[in-house]
Amino acid sequence: MKITVVGAGKYGSTTVQRVAQAGYADEVVMTDIVEGLPQGLALDMNQSRPLERYTTKVVGTNDYADTAGSDIVVVTAGKPRKPGMSRMDLLSDNAQIVGGVAKEIASSSPDAVVIVVSNPLDEMTALFQKVSGFPPERVMGQAGMLDTARFQDKVAERLGVSPLAVEAITLGSHGDTMVPVPSKVAVDGKPLRELLSDDEIDQLVQATRDGGAEVVALLKTGSAYYAPSSAAARMVESIAKDEGAVMPVCAWVTGQYGISDVYLGVPAKLTRGGVAEIVELDLSDEELANLREAAEAVRTKQADVDSLV
Ligand code: NAI
Ligand code: 2OP
Repeated sequence: MKITVVGAGKYGSTTVQRVAQAGYADEVVMTDIVEGLPQGLALDMNQSRPLERYTTKVVGTNDYADTAGSDIVVVTAGKPRKPGMSRMDLLSDNAQIVGGVAKEIASSSPDAVVIVVSNPLDEMTALFQKVSGFPPERVMGQAGMLDTARFQDKVAERLGVSPLAVEAITLGSHGDTMVPVPSKVAVDGKPLRELLSDDEIDQLVQATRDGGAEVVALLKTGSAYYAPSSAAARMVESIAKDEGAVMPVCAWVTGQYGISDVYLGVPAKLTRGGVAEIVELDLSDEELANLREAAEAVRTKQADVDSLV
């Protein structure tokens, strides 16, 4: 099992460390355009192996030849946002970067399953699929796992319970039309609606949508990467181990939820082949309407991206 992470910045390097440390990969390759950066980080990570008790080797490189034949590729290359910027402000810069990466991966790892994380997420995922020409089930984006974890954590903090006691899911886009799904939130098996008022739930939903900006505003430079890399690593694991776990991911939708032909955050079963199935949850009328609204917003932006490449 060979796994490549493109981009050795904050998100890429933490993902590499998490995946290598989990121990199921034979090789983890990290590549970046900055000379010495992936090599130096790889050296540092490899020297943690005797301490952390794992053996998977990380290879740092600036050459796609070293990534050849990867089974899974995670694309983190691109600019992060600064305070006051929306993810959409990154669109044209990151489209050039992700488009270039897609061409390289298509020729060096033509059979890979790809997870895109570069922002704006839904648009960059669509762009990667289009430029690479890979079948849509082999290209997905990471956002829903992160947004769900943020929703779980916000609910746990509000109620003073363990984050592990909270079940939740977040769908839609990784942006203003994110759709946290209150009807599916349960705390120790109890529906959230029995524990909090509608107003209190609405506040948690909004705080989840604003979760990325909240971190950016505090950091002042760069965006979140600890929870984001955990989210990507969990998706990599389900694919690498052929687990078939169902997770919210940005996937190509073909009629599910009455939505077609757009990349959108939906629950999907992840296996060695990528997205094996999109799962249709029973949503409330309002949640379904929000998901369809998100689909149309993303569709419009994805059409804009088509004109950039
Ligand atoms: P960073 O600035 O720390 O790292 C980005 C890296 O990409 C840099 O090392 C840069 O040299 C590299 N890079 C630029 N062009 C490249 C190319 N053509 N080929 C290979 N590498 C290239 O940024 P960070 O924090 O790692 O974020 C990366 C991306 O992930 C950003 O677009 C950010 O907005 C996004 N992000 C997405 C999240 C999600 O949930 N989907 C969550 C957090 C961040
Ligand atoms: C996040 O949600 C900025 O997309 C990034 O943290």
